[in-house]
Amino acid sequence: MAQQTIPPHVLIFPFPVQGHVTTMLKLSELFCLAGIHVTYLISTQNYTRLVRCTNVLSRLSPYPGFRFQVLPESVSDGNAQSMDLVMNLFESLKTAKTFFKDLLIGEAQKPVTCIISDGLMSFTLDLGEEIGIPIIYFRTISSCSFWAYFCMPKLVEAGELPLKGDDMDVLIKNVPGMECFLRQRDLPSLCRVSDLNNSTFTMISSETHQTVRARALILNTFEDLEGPILSQIRTEFPNTYTIGPLHAHLKARLDGKTASQLASSNSLWEEDKSCIKWLDNQPLKSVVYVSFGSIAMVTREQLVEFWHGLVNSGIRFLWVIRPDSVTDEEMGSEIQAELEKATKARGYMVEWAPQEAVLAHQAVGGFLTHSGWNSTLESIFEGVPMICWPYFADQQINSRFVGEVWKVGLDIKDTCDRVVIEKAVKDMMEVRKEEFVESADQIAKMARKSVGEGGSSYCNLNRLIEDIMLMTVGGITP
Ligand SMILES: *[C@@H]1O[C@H](CO)[C@@H](O)[C@H](O)[C@H]1NC(C)=O
Ligand SMILES: *[C@@H]1O[C@H](CO)[C@@H](O)[C@H](O)[C@H]1NC(C)=O
Ligand SMILES: *[C@@H]1O[C@H](CO)[C@@H](O)[C@H](O)[C@H]1NC(C)=O
Ligand SMILES: *[C@@H]1O[C@H](CO)[C@@H](O)[C@H](O)[C@H]1NC(C)=O
Repeated sequence: MAQQTIPPHVLIFPFPVQGHVTTMLKLSELFCLAGIHVTYLISTQNYTRLVRCTNVLSRLSPYPGFRFQVLPESVSDGNAQSMDLVMNLFESLKTAKTFFKDLLIGEAQKPVTCIISDGLMSFTLDLGEEIGIPIIYFRTISSCSFWAYFCMPKLVEAGELPLKGDDMDVLIKNVPGMECFLRQRDLPSLCRVSDLNNSTFTMISSETHQTVRARALILNTFEDLEGPILSQIRTEFPNTYTIGPLHAHLKARLDGKTASQLASSNSLWEEDKSCIKWLDNQPLKSVVYVSFGSIAMVTREQLVEFWHGLVNSGIRFLWVIRPDSVTDEEMGSEIQAELEKATKARGYMVEWAPQEAVLAHQAVGGFLTHSGWNSTLESIFEGVPMICWPYFADQQINSRFVGEVWKVGLDIKDTCDRVVIEKAVKDMMEVRKEEFVESADQIAKMARKSVGEGGSSYCNLNRLIEDIMLMTVGGITP
């Protein structure tokens, strides 16, 4: 039988929030380097901001096989915040179903040979199956949180959910591989519901279960970091590709390419690069970098506690305060003025920072973070110890791994009292500095090895690329 070869063309569909959009864009660039054609689906809002805040268009211009495809305007969050935002977006994404289908069947010249979709959108699985295009799921969260999400029905069955009693330190027994250290408080935040009928809970749980229908699973992690949990995951998903940390993987493969390609920020906020100059004038590993990521909101009271804690510690700090991140906005600007005045001596504040460059800076010695997975990986890669104040979703479990499993930081979840902040900052930057730096260095070395030639993530990405190439030969075998 004659086989006709069509060029591999991947349709990439991330969930439209920062961490997902930027991570899957890194993957797109890696595919482009391998000669795979990519169509990247993005919301109008995210596209506008991405183009305004980054050099993405010029950076991607050398790849004729790459194009952005903007989603219909109906995909929007309706200005809600936090977990409600995620739910609203989730609902509104379903309005893109017809649009997505038209894309899949409309490309006669250059048919889509593989779909890579964010592992939260099972309507893409329905369409992939209906039209006969292989679909690979990409979960941009940590493997440990993916596994915990996957085990949620088991926890319900075993009576461990809804959570019991007031003691949040009670161990959870039914997430295989985590029996010895996972407490009630470390479960993803949406497990803290009294009513299992809660729509967010059922959505994440059932969406995660749909992963079994995908042909394969991609995770932004590396074997040396999450090996034991990955062994558990492979009992359910034998075809799992770990190819992270993606931001570093892309840099490694771009090595020797032009400088503009190396400065590959995908931020949806304008980065204030003045903080790098400020860092240049600070002593080695003397600064705590403070950022709560792109979604987390803090109340005025919490902000004030953080501020006192930081100032009282006596340690220098670089603080990112998104203008929209304080729940009481009027108070927010007032506090900001007050903070700016009081912290001139040791602090510096920006609305958004070039995070990869900040974490790589020699003056930075620690990271006070919300424990989003993308931030956690960036910190791990640069060998920067963390203080974790998780906000929601997967962050509660990421921070447990940082504190208890990898031992590269302190997990202060569920409190931001000024005394706790002060002690944590001093511990990380002075008292227990050597211990943290040593373990962070060790893991950073493994991370670098994983994305270097012959490393586990390097080899897994090659295997993924080969498998995608095979999907184009003589049609698709089920
Ligand atoms: C990204 O796009 C979604 C969908 O339109 C929107 O809800 C969200 O606010 C956007 N985020 C940013 C930072 O532009
Ligand atoms: C859960 O919600 C569904 C519909 O939303 C309802 O039919 C069902 O009775 C509810 N179950 C419980 C236990 O509340
Ligand atoms: C589900 O639980 C979350 C978190 O506890 C809460 O914010 C949300 O309002 C709940 N949703 C419903 C429909 O009860
Ligand atoms: C990771 O997240 C941080 C904060 O949300 C952001 O500044 C940075 O650009 C992101 N990096 C990547 C590679 O997406």
